[in-house]
Amino acid sequence: MREWWKDGVIYQIYPRSFQDTTGTGVGDLKGIESRLDYLERLGIDAIWISPIFPSPMKDAGYDVSDYTGIDPTFGTLEDFESLTAAAHARGMKVLLDFVPSHTSDQHPWFQEARASKDSPKRDWYVWRDPGPDGGPPTNWISEFAGPAWTLDEATGQYYLHIFLTEQPSLNWRNPELRAAMYDVMRVWFDRGVDGFRVDAVENMAPDPEAGDNPPNPEWVESMGPARSHLGTNTKHLPVIFEIAREMRAVAEEYDPPRLLVGEAYGEIPQVMKYYGDALDAFQQPFNFLLIEAPWEAETLAGLIADYEAALPEGAWPNWVLGNHDRARIASRVGPAQARNAMLMLLTLRGTPTIYQGDELGMENVAIPPDRVQDPWEKNVPGQGLGRDPVRTPIAWEEAPFGGFSTVEPWLPMDLGAARIVARQEEDEASMLAFTRALLALRKETPALTRGSLEEVRAEGAVLRYTRRLGETRLEVALNTGTTPAEIDLAGALLVSTHPGAEAGGPLRPGEGRVTRAG
Ligand code: GLC
Repeated sequence: MREWWKDGVIYQIYPRSFQDTTGTGVGDLKGIESRLDYLERLGIDAIWISPIFPSPMKDAGYDVSDYTGIDPTFGTLEDFESLTAAAHARGMKVLLDFVPSHTSDQHPWFQEARASKDSPKRDWYVWRDPGPDGGPPTNWISEFAGPAWTLDEATGQYYLHIFLTEQPSLNWRNPELRAAMYDVMRVWFDRGVDGFRVDAVENMAPDPEAGDNPPNPEWVESMGPARSHLGTNTKHLPVIFEIAREMRAVAEEYDPPRLLVGEAYGEIPQVMKYYGDALDAFQQPFNFLLIEAPWEAETLAGLIADYEAALPEGAWPNWVLGNHDRARIASRVGPAQARNAMLMLLTLRGTPTIYQGDELGMENVAIPPDRVQDPWEKNVPGQGLGRDPVRTPIAWEEAPFGGFSTVEPWLPMDLGAARIVARQEEDEASMLAFTRALLALRKETPALTRGSLEEVRAEGAVLRYTRRLGETRLEVALNTGTTPAEIDLAGALLVSTHPGAEAGGPLRPGEGRVTRAG
């Protein structure tokens, strides 16, 4: 049987910013449940919810202190079960975020591990004696700036944290730790969860024995401190692929097998390794090519072709335009190209993931210094590294705080009329209406889900490709440029970024069309 996720569309919910029902200014699980109608009408197939587990929230929930509970900010386990049942009743799958590379420093495992050098849990984390000069054991730099090692005064050893000091790295070379983490996966699968997005997998197994990381010859300051060195001894180490296969084996204990989507940023060949040599690791290693690519037809055509060519035999592709860590697509490519970006996401071959709010054309929101939440921004202020601008709440209605909350939300929000869901609902020409139309077209057009991808090319500023299934041939053309482009586009118009467009005639700047040519 064909797996649901091959034809499905995943929608990422950032729960802190979706819908607040408890007057805390932070979204919650009941809020998500109350908006399932919206998601069903949108036409997505699965929701992936960013972390909802108990957490001191030093990194917005990516610092987990109990892998199997629910943080009171978001509600209770009953709320989660209710949400899952309600989503399933609508035919929607539920994916959670699994954060295996590190815990919170408040996790009982770490508390136990740091209590003494002889603690049975000591080796569940990564400890080393100070280097020869008494400083950190290696020159590794935390993703959020500063050394990746912190001295534990009481025991005289350093512990590793690839992210914040409060996010100690787990030691996946320890078999007991592995077993405990696989049990965590089973707890959620037993509760009916359909899969996980697996966080920061490339950072799961740094090797302190291998020593310092070499400097990055291409580094410029805007890349942030962590990129000043290469990840030679910290990222994508071979043992991770073994672990990914073991995780997959856990997912395969269930019927149907649960989905694992791995978050690994890397070059194309590196990312491909996360499928596993026998396609026995992650079913979907995230493909982040479009999240950084310059918005330029020639480059996009090249990236798409390179990715398709690198896919192992039988591996299923996927595409992502944005997430809670990266600039909003509408800000990155400009509002005039946001529809084209969505058109591309939903017509390329493979499983798309939509980040909440991108269907509304949400843009980065400027955050005044006194409202900053992201620890990265706090550590390296003013360099544009902070992620708060892309995490702002959704404005649902023309109401105080956009109907998101009854109190000032945890982050400022864009209350511009054009962004409000209720306004877009009433407007057939809105980004929301366009996204819905695309999702509906995808659903009723097997060539868009199952068809081949052919003739990917740039004609000047126009990106073009063909989707073909049996006799059906669809032509996709999108003008990434700022001037009209004459193109030869055959067939009947199925969808356009511009309401009222016709199949023929030049493509306006930012205009994209899908036609049925056969
Ligand atoms: C991932 C998450 C990011 C988080 C980091 C540490 O990259 O997407 O938000 O800060 O891992 O868990």
